[in-house]
Amino acid sequence: TRRSLSQSAAMSAAIKNVTVIGSGLMGAGIAQVAAQTGHTVTMVDIDGEAVKKAEKRIGDSIHRVAKKKFADGDEANKFISEALGRLSTSTDAVSSVTASDLVVEAIVENLDVKKKLFAQLDAAAPQHTIFASNTSSLPIGKIAEATNRKDRFGGLHFFNPVPVMKLLEVVRIPETSQATYDAMVAWGKTMGKVTVACKDTPGFIVNRLLVPYMFEAVRMVERGDASPRDVDTAMKLGAGYPMGPFELMDYVGLDTGKFIVDGWAKADPDNPLFKSSELVNKLVSEGKFGVKSGEGIYKYKK
Ligand code: 3HC
Repeated sequence: TRRSLSQSAAMSAAIKNVTVIGSGLMGAGIAQVAAQTGHTVTMVDIDGEAVKKAEKRIGDSIHRVAKKKFADGDEANKFISEALGRLSTSTDAVSSVTASDLVVEAIVENLDVKKKLFAQLDAAAPQHTIFASNTSSLPIGKIAEATNRKDRFGGLHFFNPVPVMKLLEVVRIPETSQATYDAMVAWGKTMGKVTVACKDTPGFIVNRLLVPYMFEAVRMVERGDASPRDVDTAMKLGAGYPMGPFELMDYVGLDTGKFIVDGWAKADPDNPLFKSSELVNKLVSEGKFGVKSGEGIYKYKK
């Protein structure tokens, strides 16, 4: 109806102050893009060192974005300084949500830790504040149980690198109100993303297809059918993917990939697509997580 449309428009117009909890690869990227697109952003991490690292990463990335966006150096510098001026950091999650319109959580993939965080935030945040998780492996509905605002709760799942990847998966649980969903979609558009609607199912859309694909590639190599290099070349040149499955696994992190399939396997142990891989388990146990640790399937210069 007209009325509910204008109500949701009013609600989305209200998303101005954004709190991003977690300053890892995803959190930093989300905070950066939010600041670039005119939001007032607080990026929070309990680890002050992690915040410093994230600030450096954001600084590097925003220069790449500005360089692409503006031919003129002065305009690029203005864009950068204005965006960074809208971004502040904190190590205290609770005090950072008191004026927030939207909280996006991108902390460690641990249900208990996320629930504990959201329970605290629920008590401190204004009534209207929408809560969202960027989780890639946990059910949104389970996280939302920690709060009394399931109607204002959903998933906002971004892709790495956040400043480049155009997609945002907007996940609704049965309790998510239409106004909340509309506000999340509208916010995604102001972030410059294309949104797709997802139910709260394992992997949503992208990871449900991408993760089994990556593990199928590993199984192919484990059987000795092809080398990682040849599989990557094949998928880049034969299927038009920007990265092959092994490059992508190293980029996403073997630990992350393993964590995702192991979680799914717990819920659905007979699904052959969710089978764990000896090779991945071994590399992860040796601390070879991919690009971020300097070695995974491939070796990287530090
Ligand atoms: N910040 C800002 N800009 C960046 C950037 C960053 N972190 N990374 C790359 N860019 C820009 C570069 O500046 C460059 O701009 P230009 O076109 O003006 O030169 C452009 O992006 C291309 O970068 P590169 O030339 O360095 O390299 P590529 O052309 O290989 O692109 C890529 C890099 C965009 C990462 C591309 O390889 C790609 O799309 N790979 C697949 C990524 C993917 O699938 N991500 C999803 C993973 S799944 C996930 O995240 C979900 C989670 O839940 C697991």
